[in-house]
Amino acid sequence: MQTLRDALLQAEQRGAAIGHFNVSDLVLLKGVFTAAQELNVPVIVGASEGERSFMGVRQIAALVKSLRDEFDYPIFLNADHTHTLAGAEEVARAGFDSVVFDRSALPRKENVQQTREAVTALKAIHPAMLVEGEIGDIGSGSEIHDAMPEPGKGLTTPEEARQFVEETGIDILAPAVGSMHGMSRSMVQGASKQHLDIERIAAIRKAARVPLTLHGGSGTDDDDFRKAIAAGISIVHINTELRVAWRRSLESSLANKPDEVVPYKILPPAVDSVREVVKSRLQLFNNTQSGR
Ligand code: G3H
Ligand code: ZN
Repeated sequence: MQTLRDALLQAEQRGAAIGHFNVSDLVLLKGVFTAAQELNVPVIVGASEGERSFMGVRQIAALVKSLRDEFDYPIFLNADHTHTLAGAEEVARAGFDSVVFDRSALPRKENVQQTREAVTALKAIHPAMLVEGEIGDIGSGSEIHDAMPEPGKGLTTPEEARQFVEETGIDILAPAVGSMHGMSRSMVQGASKQHLDIERIAAIRKAARVPLTLHGGSGTDDDDFRKAIAAGISIVHINTELRVAWRRSLESSLANKPDEVVPYKILPPAVDSVREVVKSRLQLFNNTQSGR
């Protein structure tokens, strides 16, 4: 079975990025998996601390593993934005493929020290699990914000990236390159788009020499995605766009069938809506209309 490291290498060779989509329930997981399957491209399922506490660490691990095994499919599981070593060790024991060990809110020195310690501790538990470290400010909360924070101040420099990777031994780096978690109301309406610092991405990739993840992908301009992937982004995280699709679809399902109480008759349109969003993003990230 292909590992996430193999899939990342292959994605880079074909000028593509692997889509990472957060899930909180089976509706989202089905939407993500069926979209990837239709396009025949690898996919990463993300579960943040909040998402894991709702679904259960071992439960989401078992669900993703069951899809991987039954369909012999390159679907991977990432523990997104994990702020404690205990939480990261728990997902290592549960067999996750990767973890985002996020101490980016700490001063640089502490972030370096804690991330380096985490890499050593996690590799001792699960040597094949990839550890992603994070520097710079990419905001917080995959939600609808009244206004998006300005990314300008906390952007990562190539030199910071190089030092951080060297000092911590991480496998993957999440730098701040212009995107922010969540969407503004105007982004949700499609009236405005988020833009990325493409030159910075290329310089960071060259200096860091490890795969890069773009967080806060929702609401990003399509062309900026294409250029960012060409410049060295290997994984793109999308969450808020899926949550918006999930909620809107659920609201209309419930409104259309006011007397329906059977969950499996109410929920399928929500799976379809999530699948459509994931599919259009995967087509963009994989430069394809028809699959790999
Ligand atoms: O880790 C999750 C993401 O970075 C998602 O960000 O909600 O802006 O798409 P987003
Ligand atoms: Zn993120």
